[in-house]
Amino acid sequence: MKKLLVVIIACLAGISARADEGMWLPSLIHERIADMQAKGFKLSAEDIYSINQASLKDAVMMFGRGCSAELLSGEGLILTNYHCGYAQIQKHSSVEHDYLKDGFWAMKREEELPNPGLSVSFLERMEDVTSIVLRGYTPDMTEEQRIELIRHNSTNLIDIATSAGKGLRATVEALYYGNQYFLFVYREFKDVRFVGAPPTSIGKFGGETDNWMWPRHTGDFSLFRIYADKDNNPAEYSKDNVPYQPKKYFKISTGGIKEGDFTFIYGFPGYTQEYIHSEGVRYISEISDPCKVALRTLRLDIMNKHMSKSQAVRIQYSTKKAIVANAWKKWQGEAGGIKKMKTVQTNQDYEKRFIEWAKGTEYEGIVEHIDSIYKELETHHFIVDIFSETAQTIEISRLARQVSGHSLESVKNISKSFFKDYYMPIDKECFVALMKEFGNMIPDDHQPAFYKEQMQKYGKVETWADSLFANSVFADEAKMESLGENYHDVLIHDPASIYYIEMQNWALPHLNKARALNRDLQLLYRTYMRGQMDFAPDRTVYYPDANLTLRVSYGHIKGYSPYDGAYYHPSSTLKGIIEKDNPEIFDYNIPQKLRDIYHNKDFGRWVDERGEVPVCFIATNHTTGGNSGSPVINAEGNLIGINFDRVWEGTMSDIDFDLDFCRNISLDIRYVLFTIEKIGGAAYLFDEMTFVE
Ligand code: ARG
Ligand code: GLU
Repeated sequence: MKKLLVVIIACLAGISARADEGMWLPSLIHERIADMQAKGFKLSAEDIYSINQASLKDAVMMFGRGCSAELLSGEGLILTNYHCGYAQIQKHSSVEHDYLKDGFWAMKREEELPNPGLSVSFLERMEDVTSIVLRGYTPDMTEEQRIELIRHNSTNLIDIATSAGKGLRATVEALYYGNQYFLFVYREFKDVRFVGAPPTSIGKFGGETDNWMWPRHTGDFSLFRIYADKDNNPAEYSKDNVPYQPKKYFKISTGGIKEGDFTFIYGFPGYTQEYIHSEGVRYISEISDPCKVALRTLRLDIMNKHMSKSQAVRIQYSTKKAIVANAWKKWQGEAGGIKKMKTVQTNQDYEKRFIEWAKGTEYEGIVEHIDSIYKELETHHFIVDIFSETAQTIEISRLARQVSGHSLESVKNISKSFFKDYYMPIDKECFVALMKEFGNMIPDDHQPAFYKEQMQKYGKVETWADSLFANSVFADEAKMESLGENYHDVLIHDPASIYYIEMQNWALPHLNKARALNRDLQLLYRTYMRGQMDFAPDRTVYYPDANLTLRVSYGHIKGYSPYDGAYYHPSSTLKGIIEKDNPEIFDYNIPQKLRDIYHNKDFGRWVDERGEVPVCFIATNHTTGGNSGSPVINAEGNLIGINFDRVWEGTMSDIDFDLDFCRNISLDIRYVLFTIEKIGGAAYLFDEMTFVE
C-alpha cells in the first residue's frame, strides 16, 4: 500500500514510476504500453493481444490446470517447466524405465508419449462483461440472490461463447472482488504428448535445497507437443492426430541478456492478495504459515529418511514430496518477508488514514468491520488449517474418503493406482508425528472427543498407530484386492474411515463457519476495494489480483541485495553447477556427461561472453504460482527464457511486492538448447525452431 502511494506521488510529480509491480490484463494492455515502451519494449499493444490478427497471446497457454507454457514451433512443440511436466514424467517412469533418473528424449514423432488427462488451453479472447453479468441486479438483493443472478447470467454467456467452435471452454471471473467481471474463452487441446526432458539431476538440480533460492542452477524444463485432428482442431487422443499448426509461435533469441534489459512475462498467475487488510496479513504470516511449516517439516523429515534408503520409494514419493516441500519453503519465505517489510504495521497505518478519510462516505466503518470479522474467523481458520495439514494428509484416510460411494470395481481401480505409490512406513510414521503435534497445537478444550478417547484407549500415539495400520484394509493392498460384495460394510467400519469421519466431524462446523465468514469478507472487500481506489484515485496503479487468468508483467533483469553486505548478480552459469556438483548428495549429483562437457569445454554455440554456458537469471517481473513455464520475452518480443520460480526473500510479493527484494527466476533459453543438444542428443528438434540473434 505504501508503495502504491509512492507510485502515485511519483506520477503526480511527473516522474515516471519504475515500480515493475503489477499483473496486467492483456486486453487492457494499451493502458500500459506507453510505460512499457518507455522502458524499452519495441512492440505494440496489438502485438501482445489482438482478436483480429495473430498476436503473442496465441503462442502462450495454460498447461494442465496450474502452469503456463509456450509454443516453440509451427508444429505444436511446446516448452514448460520440468516441475510442470513432472507428474507425467513420473507416470511414464518405472524402475526399468527410469526417465526421472535418465531423462527421456523422443527421437522421432512416433516415440512421443501420450498423456491422458493432460490438456493445454489457449485464450481465444477476453471481454469485460460486467454489465451483462449484473443485468437485473438491484441494490435491495441479498448476496445470495446476487450470486444466483451472476451464475445465471454467466451460464448464458458461457453457453453462447462455447457454441461457436470446437474445443471451446469459457469461464466468467470476478476481478477486484466482484467489482468487475470478465469472460475468458479458451480453446482446449487434449492430445498433448511428452517429447523430452532432462534427467532429474538437471531438471531438479539442487532439489528442495535450492528451490526458491538464488543463485540457482536448475534446468527446469520439459518439452511436449500438441496434436490436433486433420483439420487442426482440438480432438481427443488418436494415433491419427497430427501436430497442431498454431497461428503464432515464439522466435528464440540466442543473442543473450544483460542487466537492465527489458523483460516481459506472459502467463497464468494463480492467486495473490495485494489489497488485503492488516489482520489478514497477520494471520497468514504469524499464525498460519509458521504452524503449517512446522507440521510439514515433520512429514518431510520422514519422507526424506525413507526416500534416501530406496530407489523404489524415491520414485513413489517424488511428486508427493515435491508438492509438500514447495509450499513449505514458500511459506517460510513469505512469513519472513512480511516480517522484514513490516507489512502488518504498514497496512495498519494505511488503514488508519483510510478510516479518517472514509468518515461521512459510503466507506465509513468498512475497515473496522473487516477487522472484527478477521478476529472472529481466527479460531475457525486455525482449526481448518490444522485439519488440512494433519488428518487430511494421512494417506489411508484420504483413500478411505476417495473411494467412499464408489462401485466395487471402481474402488479396486482407485486402490490399485494408490498402492503403486504407497509406502506404509512413511504414512504410519507421519500419522504418529502429526497426531502428537496435533495434541500440542490444539488446546485441550478444542480437541475432538474422538482424539481424547483414542489417546486414552491406547495410552500413546504409537500404539494407536499400530492398531490403526494393522487393522485397516486401506493399508493393505492384498485385502483391498480381495474385497467382495460386502465391501461397503467393510469399508465404512474400517478404522481409517472412522478416523477420517471423526476428525472431519470435528473440523466441519469450523469449516462451515469459516466459509460463511469468508463470504462476508468477500462482500466487504468488494466495497473496501472500491474505497481504496477512491481514496487514492490513480486508476493506472491498480491491477486485479491474480486469479489464474492470462496476465502480462514487465520488468527488467536486475541483481539484488538480500541483506547487508551481500549482492547477488543477475545471471548464473554452468560453472556454478560444477561448483555445486557432489556425487554424494542426490540433488547435486550431475550426469557424468555434463562433467565431461564442462571439462572439455564442449559448449558449442551456447557459450556466452564470459566463456561460460548461461543457466538462470533473475528479473523484477511480478509473478506467482501458475507463472511457472511462462515465456520470458525481450524488448523485441523474442523468447529469452522460461520463468520457474521466485527468490524466497521475495515470496511475500503475493501480498506485498517490493522492488528491492522481489525477483522472479528464469531459465536462460540457451541452457535449454544446450541441454537438448549436448545432454539429450536431440538437436533434430532445432530444425523446427526459429532462432534470431
Ligand atoms: N518453487 C517453484 C514453484 O513454486 C518450483 C517448484 C518445483 N521444484 C521443487 N524443487 N519442488 O512451483
Ligand atoms: N514455481 C512456481 C509455479 O509452479 C512459480 C514460482 C512462484 O510462485 O512464483 O508456478
